[in-house]
Order: sequence, then C-alpha cells, then structure tokens
Amino acid sequence: MSAPVLSPTNDAITRAADLLRSGGLVAVPTETVYGLAANAANAEAIARLYAAKGRPRFNPLIAHVASLEMAQAQGAFSRQALELVEAFWPGPLTLVVDVSEHGTVSDLARAGLPSLALRMPDHPVAQSLLSEFGGPLVAPSANPSGKISPTHAEHVATDMGDRVDLILDGGTCTAGLESTIIDARGDRPALLRPGSLDPAEIERVWPGLIRPEANPDAPQSPGQMLRHYAPNAKLRLHAATPDEGEAFLGFGPGEATLNLSTSADLAEAAANLFRMLRELDQRYDRIAVAPIPSHGLGEAINDRLTRAAKTA
Ligand code: TXA
Ligand code: MG
Repeated sequence: MSAPVLSPTNDAITRAADLLRSGGLVAVPTETVYGLAANAANAEAIARLYAAKGRPRFNPLIAHVASLEMAQAQGAFSRQALELVEAFWPGPLTLVVDVSEHGTVSDLARAGLPSLALRMPDHPVAQSLLSEFGGPLVAPSANPSGKISPTHAEHVATDMGDRVDLILDGGTCTAGLESTIIDARGDRPALLRPGSLDPAEIERVWPGLIRPEANPDAPQSPGQMLRHYAPNAKLRLHAATPDEGEAFLGFGPGEATLNLSTSADLAEAAANLFRMLRELDQRYDRIAVAPIPSHGLGEAINDRLTRAAKTA
C-alpha cells in the first residue's frame, strides 16, 4: 500500500511527529531534496530506514536539527565551525564535527564513526516537523540508494511510497541538489561533497578550503560512491550535440529535448537537474548532456552527472 501524501497542515505535522515517535519513517521536503526522516535516537527506526533505501550500513546519515542548541547537544563545534553556522544556517550546509559524549544520535546512524554530520534545513515544513518532534531527525535523500534524489513529493511516492509511513508534500525543492558537506574538525575546512552551497561562500567565511581534487588523500564522505544518482538510461556527458536516438539535456541557448537553463544560470540548472534526468529517463534509453561549466554550483552539478554516468 502506498503511503498517504499530505499537505503540511498543522494536523499533518502533528501526525508526522507522532509517527516518528513510534519509530515510523516520514518523507519531508527540505530546500535541497526530499529527505526520509527517522528518529535519530531510535536504532530500530534507523535499521528500517537503511532497509527502505537499500542503503549500505557503512554509509552514515545526516542528523537534522531545529536549532543550534539542538546541534550542540550532539556535536562539538570549533570557533570556525560556529562561524559557518552563523553565516549559513539554516541552509544547505552540512557540518561534520566530533560527536559529543552525551549525544543521543544512534551509533547505527553514524555508522559507528566518532564524527557526526549535522544540518539545519531552511524549509518551513522541515523546521516545523523538527520543532514539533523536539529532537534530531536523520534524513537521507528519500530515494532508493544509488538512484536519483527526489525534488517533488511525487518522486518520493513513485520510488518509496510502499516503504514509508507518510509523505509531507511541500512542493518543489528550490535548491534541487543536496547540501554541501564540510568536515569542520580540522584547522582548515575540507569539502567532502560539493552541493547547493557554492564552496566560494565557505572560503569567504573560513579560508583555506581543502578540496578532494587538489588532494586525493583528503577525507571523503563514506557515502560518495562512484555510481550514484543514476538513471536507467545511459548518460553521455560534455556532448556538443546529440547522436541519433539520444535525448539532449541542454544548457544555455540552442535546441534541446529539455534545457537545464536556457540562460546558462547554474542555480536554475541545479534546481532542474534531478527532475529533468527523471523525465528523460522515462522516455529515452540514452541521454546526451551538454557541457556544464565547472565553476560555482557547476562543480556540484558535474559531480552528480559524473556519478550518474558511471556504468555499474
Ligand atoms: O541536502 C541534504 O543533505 C539531504 C537532505 C535530505 O537534507 N540529505 C542527504 O543525505 O543528502 P544523504 O544520506 O543522501 O547523504 C548524506 C551524506 C553521505 O554521503 C554520507 O556519507 C555523508 O553525508 N556523511 C554522513 N555522516 C558523515 C560523517 N560522519 N563523515 C563524513 N560524511 C558523512
Ligand atoms: Mg542521497
């Protein structure tokens, strides 16, 4: 049976928080993508969450919080980490910090690591749910592991409807790509996953960003699998024009089956990426994708495309 899809009225939020208290799974919109939320302190609920996604258990989850106070009960923030919080929370920035001794986030959610990923989402529905629930919620993207992340309630209903208890419909996610993940434990910030917050913004607040390309030994998020965000169709990247029989996902002016942004706006392209990949995947077996510049948000877009294009 498919889970109810509810608009986020006060009653629906109350019902969602009750479900979470009894170990349920609730899909919730954030500004980046839809998350599949569970009580971060309930190991049984988290085991269900890993099973629902088909997610490897070595891949830890992000704990979402309603306030800095809630975050500081779970993790230890350095002065620079607090500066990032001040500048970007609520928003699409996840910080990896040392887990605090009295933290309540289950070991299973952290994959046994001594660190913890924390984020305060900038979305009224996610915020209401977190406040109503009153504690941290883990929320991976609400898609089967390795597949395209959802930016509409309908995507969640199609992919995960039979494996969750409730879906809160908050419309379209405005950012469209997952949060940027920064390891904030060292003297310098380290980029673990490019995402909806442009790394240049991080540099402005805490300079010296360590990037994985520049330093192959830099730490990576354990969940950064090479093949990820993958459609069923075969992707061909940096294509100037489509070949016979290929769909063309464009960027900038010109003919295309679908266009990420006719005005070559990277934020618009980021917001459209997952929805357009899904749409083309339903209609075509092969998709050619126009070149996307790699500056600013283009780094995160190219990261997702590269993983989506990897063959199994
Ligand atoms: O925008 C987002 O971040 C969305 C929304 C729903 O908040 N969530 C999301 O979760 O993208 P998920 O589970 O799809 O990705 C979480 C990433 C994984 O790559 C995981 O390896 C990494 O966070 N992560 C979690 N805890 C970590 C830790 N302690 N150290 C390093 N990476 C960690
Ligand atoms: Mg994900």
